[in-house]
Amino acid sequence: MGKIIAMEFTADRLRLIDQRKLPKEYTFFECVTHEECEFAIKDMVVRGAPAIGAAAAYGVVLAAMQYRGLGSDGFYASMGRALAALNATRPTAVNLMWAIDRMRRSLESTRTGTIDAACRVLREEADAILAEDIDKSERLSAFGNALVPRGATILTHCNTGSLAVPGLGTALGMVRAAHRSGKGISVFADETRPRLQGARLTAWELMEEGIPVTLIADNVAATLIRDGRIDLVVVGADRIAANGDSANKIGTFMLSVVAKRYGVPFYVAAPVSTIDFGCPGGEAIVIEERGSEEVTYIEGVQVAPSGVRVYNPAFDVTPAENISGIVTEQGVLYPPFEAAIASLRR
Ligand code: MRU
Repeated sequence: MGKIIAMEFTADRLRLIDQRKLPKEYTFFECVTHEECEFAIKDMVVRGAPAIGAAAAYGVVLAAMQYRGLGSDGFYASMGRALAALNATRPTAVNLMWAIDRMRRSLESTRTGTIDAACRVLREEADAILAEDIDKSERLSAFGNALVPRGATILTHCNTGSLAVPGLGTALGMVRAAHRSGKGISVFADETRPRLQGARLTAWELMEEGIPVTLIADNVAATLIRDGRIDLVVVGADRIAANGDSANKIGTFMLSVVAKRYGVPFYVAAPVSTIDFGCPGGEAIVIEERGSEEVTYIEGVQVAPSGVRVYNPAFDVTPAENISGIVTEQGVLYPPFEAAIASLRR
């Protein structure tokens, strides 16, 4: 298979690789309405912070196509509701709110024109978000590559490749860039319970590209780090606070603790759109909690007693003090992150 195109907008629909079904089935999920796009984000047909943002932007385009016949008042009222519903699909990845905010400002700029013109403007804005995401992931990957030693063994968590990000990816973009530049790297991928993004998606993406990957159960990582078998840990982020605290897939925090304990560099890779400049620190980040069946069932098979109480947070926060560097499309940020992040604010 060639390049992975996880999302594509044709004349009237958003076509997404259905990430719930990989790697067993490579199928597509089509959204024709904004409600279908909302479902796709909530149910994780599409997931990964930048991909969620871009998909939601196209959800706004779908809404405009649905409501274009309503006349100005009805159109703008319905669009307001659609924007709010898309914005509320998942709470942690700030790229979602960032993309919806861009689409809202675009919509506002069309108030004096025709509705057809508004539809065109919104489509252009969503296309711009997608194109910029691709460009940013390439630049970020190149900056990240410079941090990867020749022959390095890299540990990663969750999925941060072309399925999660339009383009090369973030943490996995760094890995791809290092591999493509002939550094002879290899990867340990955490399986990433409960949704198995590492096993189902990261292992698949890396194997598609011929990058040496070894899949491990999440609880193996600490032993590998202690035994000196990991040169660096690279992960993505769903929201980075102004002080550098970073929310990412549940399990990231414990990796950061072990990496720090054994002096292994721990990098977070994310575009600047993942930084929430208004969020002072990790304690202010809303952590999504998902349903108990994600833990009590694996691929439809019950693995825990019926009725057991479950706690299923989808993300955790890695404190800035555990992070060696934050790789963005504008370069690598180093501690103290507060100052480095503030310098990016426009
Ligand atoms: O719940 P998910 O699969 O959307 O979580 C994804 C992650 O935590 C990724 O690491 C993060 O979004 C960064 S993707 C470049």
